[in-house]
Amino acid sequence: MKLLTFNKKIMKLSRISNYMACLSLIWFLNSCENSKSISILSPKGVNSIFLENNAGQISYRVEHQGKKVINKSKLGLSFKEGALLLDGFDIIGSETKTVDNTWNQPWGESKTIQNYYNESVISLRTQEGAELDLIFRAYDDGIAFRYHVKNLGENKNVIIDDEITEFNMAEDAESWWIKAYDRNRYEQLYKHTKISKIDTVHTPLTMRFSNGVHVSIHEASLTNYSSMQIVGGKSTRLYCDLAPWSNGDKVRAKVPFVTPWRTIKIADSAAELVGSDLTLNCNEPNVLKDVSWIKPSKYIGIWWGMIMGKWTWGTGLKHGATTKRAKKYIDFAAKHGIDEVLIEGVSAGFEGLFPGDTVMTSFTKETNDFDIETVQKYAQSMGISLQAYHETSASPNNYLPQLDSAFAKLNRLGITKVKIGHVGAWLNKNEYHYGQYGVEYFRKVLQKAAEYKIGVNFHEPIKSTGERRTYPNMLSREGARGMEYNAWGNGGNPVNHTTTLPFTRLLEAPMDYTPGIFDLLYQNLDTDNTGQFPVKITFIDKGNGYSNIKFKGAESYWQSKAMKRHIQVKGSDTTFVWTCTEMMKPGEWEWGISAHDIVTHNNNKWLLEGESNQKVRVSKKGKVTGRTSLIVPNLGLDPKDRIIASESELLKVGTNVFGKTQRVNTTLVKQLAYYVVIYSPIQMASDFIENYENQPAFQFIKDVPVDWDTTVVINGEVGEYITVARKDRNSKDWYLGSITNDESRTFEINLSFLDTNGIYEAEYYADGKNSDWESNPYDIEIGTDNVGSVYHFNLAKGGGHAVRFKYKGKK
Ligand code: NOJ
Repeated sequence: MKLLTFNKKIMKLSRISNYMACLSLIWFLNSCENSKSISILSPKGVNSIFLENNAGQISYRVEHQGKKVINKSKLGLSFKEGALLLDGFDIIGSETKTVDNTWNQPWGESKTIQNYYNESVISLRTQEGAELDLIFRAYDDGIAFRYHVKNLGENKNVIIDDEITEFNMAEDAESWWIKAYDRNRYEQLYKHTKISKIDTVHTPLTMRFSNGVHVSIHEASLTNYSSMQIVGGKSTRLYCDLAPWSNGDKVRAKVPFVTPWRTIKIADSAAELVGSDLTLNCNEPNVLKDVSWIKPSKYIGIWWGMIMGKWTWGTGLKHGATTKRAKKYIDFAAKHGIDEVLIEGVSAGFEGLFPGDTVMTSFTKETNDFDIETVQKYAQSMGISLQAYHETSASPNNYLPQLDSAFAKLNRLGITKVKIGHVGAWLNKNEYHYGQYGVEYFRKVLQKAAEYKIGVNFHEPIKSTGERRTYPNMLSREGARGMEYNAWGNGGNPVNHTTTLPFTRLLEAPMDYTPGIFDLLYQNLDTDNTGQFPVKITFIDKGNGYSNIKFKGAESYWQSKAMKRHIQVKGSDTTFVWTCTEMMKPGEWEWGISAHDIVTHNNNKWLLEGESNQKVRVSKKGKVTGRTSLIVPNLGLDPKDRIIASESELLKVGTNVFGKTQRVNTTLVKQLAYYVVIYSPIQMASDFIENYENQPAFQFIKDVPVDWDTTVVINGEVGEYITVARKDRNSKDWYLGSITNDESRTFEINLSFLDTNGIYEAEYYADGKNSDWESNPYDIEIGTDNVGSVYHFNLAKGGGHAVRFKYKGKK
């Protein structure tokens, strides 16, 4: 590393003007003995970047409409060998250009995207001959920059141990963030704090300045590098952090190389921030020639049953993926015009979501009770297809060697999409999903899928950095808390989660959120009980007064089920008898009881702590043996130690019997509005199909497109509300979706986005007058209305609004 171990003190001062190759009008130069500065303006002059070279140390700052956004911030790369790049540099030249073109997305939120920016490439050299270009772009919706390391002398293979890039924010603005290096990857609730209080966080990192300027820091074109996190420094100065390999290396690079773009979206409002295409514009154009096989779609799935614990992924009595059920789902999809059926849990060798050290799942063989060939043929005969599912259990070691054969099989079967899961805190149990290993792994899978004409839906993915522009088979991904979190403990997704996502995670890519749960309170989980027998379970509490008792059984994956209480009073003795009837398949099942512990707010306190679970057996003819009841004597507990909640405390927890841990925290209409607000080219109707039967609201899910010509963000505030209108790519219809947090709202919006020469009718799905996510979530009003130039609607607390503006012809 001789070339890099220079002595800063002996470096000559920069000589920018001597070497400037080309200057255009958008540049100016300040020159004095020790400092030089250059500025780059965006095409309409909205954003400016100022670069300074102070005795060889290059820094930048950014302004938006003359207002400071980023103050003087350092740039640089440091290598394992100890050298610091970007200190002691001469600027030996620069080139600048204006680029203005448009490109079409094969699918997307809008068809045509304008890519309009001024770019400057500043070439730097050390005395020893290390060469590097700094590439800066000024767009009207933000700025971007990257490093191009061109020459490090003899050093061809280098290890970056730090990127010095700083973001010295001009104010201690508000910020919305999720913590990096968490076992749950990106699946967290957003925190809202001042910049000075942020931890080490993932990008995009969204900020709001007191003057209303909104900023989002992220990266684009993340290739052969590790992803950038942002480190807070108890001040407004933020630093780039690169996710390390398991041995601590940050990036293993081969000279020459370019880093990903560091992107900073800047807008005057939250709504405007959502409209920025900066990240996509900083990616390479489509490299796949023929993309006609990549088609947006709607899908249903044998899925929610596993998430809710009613069915299992693995084989056994409750296996969700049976050929019989698959056909039932296919029939439903065909009847309702849904394109695909996802069926999870079909791979042979799958050993549960959290397997031991060696993952043996096969992606070319299925379980004995599932015949994929027959099922796909049946689907095709009905005009639809399966969406395949590969749960890798976060083991690329097991998955990568099978990629060719697995994708070749899907291709042969005529399956054009695959959902690929990566459940696990690390890849191969030792690399971050977003370290360089993960970056290269996810890219390799995407490229291989393209070779076999397969579109990808990554779950537990790396964040998106806009690769869908280059590889349009990159359809959708998870990468945030989706619907499934409503099925698991601790309160699900609070009302403001999906009003935060559009301004954070969704700024960067489609999300497979899997909306469309209609049974918000989980009252119809047991509608499909074929081959099951009723088993009455009784829990007798002789005077302890436990409350909110719930049955939990392995038979339905330890899912909670509310029990009914009868009080028996004999003299001074009070006995509480709790009962429920559970449908069980023949087999042996374990069960137990949980209660709501008002002291610790634990809604799932297990009452068999230290004891073994109860066991019940159901014969093939439905004969029940074993324990069906559990008696707890009066334990003489001090009232303080009892797990007792008063009626009012339980009401606070939530009106539904499961308490706050298990329900979906929205109104029914908000579920519909998600199909417009949360963009994805593949949208799931995620509930059990039985819950859509005879539901007029299902019509909206059937109608709503998954591919758009134009998108207009009408209003929005981070975490509070958002209204989006989108024009269908294949008709003249427009659709509108609006969602709110815990506040009810009234909006009057201008319909100037509609074709002024057209007549439209509004088919609306509105929160009912008494609708409230907590107390009355199902209240819905569906109707049609003539359309004028403005449109009024109300959103209930935790509610939404969904409209189809149906084109009826010319005026
Ligand atoms: C979590 C995913 O988000 C979900 O969609 C999937 O069904 C499970 N993992 C199982 O792989």
